Amino acid sequence: MKGSASVPLKRGWRGLVVAVLALVFLSMLVPLVFLLGLHNGFHSGYAPEVQSSDAGSGFRNYDPEDRGKIPSESDTSKHLDELIRRLGPSISKEVGLPAEPKGSNNSEGLPIPPMVLPKPLPVLNGDKGVASDELEKSCQLEFGSYCIWSKEHKEDMKDSMVKKLKDNLFVARAYYPTIAKLPAHDMLSRELRQNIQEFERILSESSTDADLPRDVEKKLQKMEAAIGKAKSCTVDCTNVDKKLRQILDLTEDETYFHRKQSAFLYQLAIQTMPKSLHCLSMRLTVEYFRSQLIDLEVPRDDIYEDPTLHHHVIFSNHLLASSVVINSTVMHAMDSGNQVFHVITDGQNYIAMKLWFFRNSYKNATVRVLNIEDLNLTHSDKSDMFLTLSDEFRVSIRRSVDKPSSIQFRTEYISVFGPKHFLLPEIFRNLKKVVVLDDDVVVQRDLSSLWSLDMEGKVNGALEYCGVRLGQLKSYLGDNIFNSNSCAWMSGLNVIDLEKWRELNLTETYQNLLQHNRRGGGELSRVRSLPANLLAFQDQIYSLESSWVVSGLGHNYGVDPQTINDASVLHYNGNMKPWLEIGIPKYKGYWKKFLKRDDPFMDDCNVNP
Ligand SMILES: *[C@@H]1O[C@H](CO)[C@@H](O)[C@H](O)[C@H]1NC(C)=O
Ligand SMILES: *[C@@H]1O[C@H](CO)[C@@H](O)[C@H](O)[C@H]1NC(C)=O
Ligand SMILES: *[C@@H]1O[C@H](CO)[C@@H](O)[C@H](O)[C@H]1NC(C)=O
Ligand SMILES: *[C@@H]1O[C@H](CO)[C@@H](O)[C@H](O)[C@H]1NC(C)=O
Repeated sequence: MKGSASVPLKRGWRGLVVAVLALVFLSMLVPLVFLLGLHNGFHSGYAPEVQSSDAGSGFRNYDPEDRGKIPSESDTSKHLDELIRRLGPSISKEVGLPAEPKGSNNSEGLPIPPMVLPKPLPVLNGDKGVASDELEKSCQLEFGSYCIWSKEHKEDMKDSMVKKLKDNLFVARAYYPTIAKLPAHDMLSRELRQNIQEFERILSESSTDADLPRDVEKKLQKMEAAIGKAKSCTVDCTNVDKKLRQILDLTEDETYFHRKQSAFLYQLAIQTMPKSLHCLSMRLTVEYFRSQLIDLEVPRDDIYEDPTLHHHVIFSNHLLASSVVINSTVMHAMDSGNQVFHVITDGQNYIAMKLWFFRNSYKNATVRVLNIEDLNLTHSDKSDMFLTLSDEFRVSIRRSVDKPSSIQFRTEYISVFGPKHFLLPEIFRNLKKVVVLDDDVVVQRDLSSLWSLDMEGKVNGALEYCGVRLGQLKSYLGDNIFNSNSCAWMSGLNVIDLEKWRELNLTETYQNLLQHNRRGGGELSRVRSLPANLLAFQDQIYSLESSWVVSGLGHNYGVDPQTINDASVLHYNGNMKPWLEIGIPKYKGYWKKFLKRDDPFMDDCNVNP
């Protein structure tokens, strides 16, 4: 193992221990507040099951059974033991929880009682009559269908059936984990699971009723039957029933609920981090402070900044996902000794990742973990240093470009850089070239030829995606000048010429575009980032050969197995990430293959994605 840490923590680690313990204590206080009814009038059962997406909150899941147990705050070691006990494998006996967001930049709309989130939440603050037009707009843009609608056609969308499917999916998902644990209900569990997967597949492809397959009514009946059976196993399932009722009780307003429920569903689908992964992260954090590791770390600036080595950058808040990216890359590397991986994460995952990458070696490669909150950058003020990952969009565009009157839409998936990717030239001041990998990829070939690639003076070597052309996104690109025929491009695997980027001041261009679009539309930042990305890299994309990457493994059930085998990189863009229960089963194996085996921490936490 070569160096693994970037910033020497020596000075601050004692402070961090205190911070972690304070968070532990707070996490136990919150349930007490609920117990005493000090919350804002919400039904208490709901709060422990949702959690903040805010990067600052340390402990975000509460086991309702543990509510009200308050350990003595003076006894440090007892704290740790208690913590470890609480994080044990038995913990995951709940409905899937919404968790780790893909990028923590979309917390504005989470359906979470204000109690849990420090930031004010426009979408769910309990007051009726909150600027409902505004709510509707933001909710739809941000979550409603996880996509950008063509503005002028927003009213035309008929989606009552889609909503019904979402409702059923939501309920089925609430029952599934409980049923799955009951051996006596094996059949039902399988039936539910099949229905859930079927619905996920349909909903991943359809955002309006017109997109739905013809036999959807029949599928809905099957789902309703399965849910009916699940509901009728009264003895075992009262917990689920209670849970659901609490969620439903949250609002009496039907339409408001509808909207919120969809939002909640999407949070679940996209962002669920199983409790066991949360456990893993916490166990590693505790272990870090118990061990003497702090004294063992040797920062290897000579390696981190050596421009002759092959530098890879991964933005991630998911420990196992980034581990799989790195492992799969080194496994296929001809020479792993010249590979350096820079994992950029947030404060919440930093310690766990440091320990993980210190404990595990990846052949002769060097892994360094960076906390984005610790970077000193001029382009970004301190208060704004939250992690963002690559941003995924589902875009509805007209099937026919020539017939603007066509109301037929097709759905396309694009992923582009998040705002923090635009700090790359500054974070890696001494490097000339980096390869940026998303954390939802698996590498299947040696990547070293990317470093000798002649990019013909372009900044970003990327997969071009001509299923979407700038001309089709006109309504989002505003009054900027652009070539309608340019294709969109994908994040996932990107070769970045940092020198050229600096020379062209692309970061400024991007930030100006964001500002400009803000003045124009006043829309949510997430929606602004797509056009800003596409425009900033206009004429600066070097198109990688298509055999480099196959995309869509997180939404497309129909990818040809031969194409998968031939691709150098697999990209699981879409909702159905391979580590989630809803991941597309036939693609999971390619990812799981590179998971670590026989890890004591993973075993302890029952991690088995
Ligand atoms: C790692 O480096 C050592 C010494 O440089 C070399 O002997 C060994 O073969 C390398 N291992 C791999 C897997 O590249
Ligand atoms: C950022 O600046 C602070 C204070 O100036 C310094 O202690 C810290 O080491 C710097 N961090 C990095 C990553 O350079
Ligand atoms: C980039 O910015 C620098 C300083 O702000 C300026 O001198 C240079 O001309 C700019 N380059 C381009 C291509 O705009
Ligand atoms: C890397 O993947 C291999 C299987 O391909 C696995 O045996 C090993 O444990 C993994 N290593 C790490 C550090 O994840």
